[in-house]
Amino acid sequence: MNLPKHIAIIMDGNGRWAKKRGLPRTAGHKAGAETLKKVLTYAQKKGIEVVTLFAFSSENWKRPKEEVQTLMDLFRAYLKEDVKELVKKGIRVSFIGAREKLAPDLREQMNRLESQTADFQGFHVVLAISYGARDDIINAARQLAVKAASGQMTPDDIDETTFAAHLSTTRMPAPDLVIRTSGEERISNFLLWEMAYAELYFTPVLWPDFNETAFDEALESYQKRQRRYGGLENKQKV
Ligand code: IPE
Ligand code: IPE
Ligand code: MG
Repeated sequence: MNLPKHIAIIMDGNGRWAKKRGLPRTAGHKAGAETLKKVLTYAQKKGIEVVTLFAFSSENWKRPKEEVQTLMDLFRAYLKEDVKELVKKGIRVSFIGAREKLAPDLREQMNRLESQTADFQGFHVVLAISYGARDDIINAARQLAVKAASGQMTPDDIDETTFAAHLSTTRMPAPDLVIRTSGEERISNFLLWEMAYAELYFTPVLWPDFNETAFDEALESYQKRQRRYGGLENKQKV
């Protein structure tokens, strides 16, 4: 079976899931956190190497203070309880996103988890929190500009390889498959550089309802894709 090595997921639809049930949006986020645990267990069982999850975007700071607070509290609880389980299972955990905007205790937890698991070789889980791809690209450009200005490199040294080396995703393969739940068919500032040749999969399933069957459907769809990277299919003649 031709499995994607790296799956990136835009976990969307928590609010609508709650609304459908007459619950507050926060109930949707809580249910979404439960889904996340199950999906990670399943992805590992399936033999996926890397899963990147879009948990909170650089634009999500615009949401009402109360909702942002609930989400931060959920991350805090998740990092304390559930991520510990991941560590026990030998899973490497890392984070991408503007960490400086997060509370110091959260940042400390994140740094600790990353260093605890940095050498783990198996399954790798990446949480994108306070993440925006444009921010990440601008940061890379700034670092390169500093190096060029100080003479550590010349403008001609800037190519796809050196550029990618300055992104926060530098130590992982590019995503093969990007899944977005909830029926929205957009990227919302997620992994813009990295998904240049990813296969995109959109499902109407709301994130809290995403389950093993929905995951299998995404994998089945991936099996049918022909990845050509701008070239021609192997046996095709001109
Ligand atoms: C995804 O669900 C979680 C975050 C963006 C933090 P939403 O909160 O966006 O749910 P909808 O899109 O309003 O249903
Ligand atoms: C994208 O969802 C961000 C996350 C899932 C964390 P949003 O709900 O924030 O995206 P838009 O506003 O529908 O594009
Ligand atoms: Mg949404």
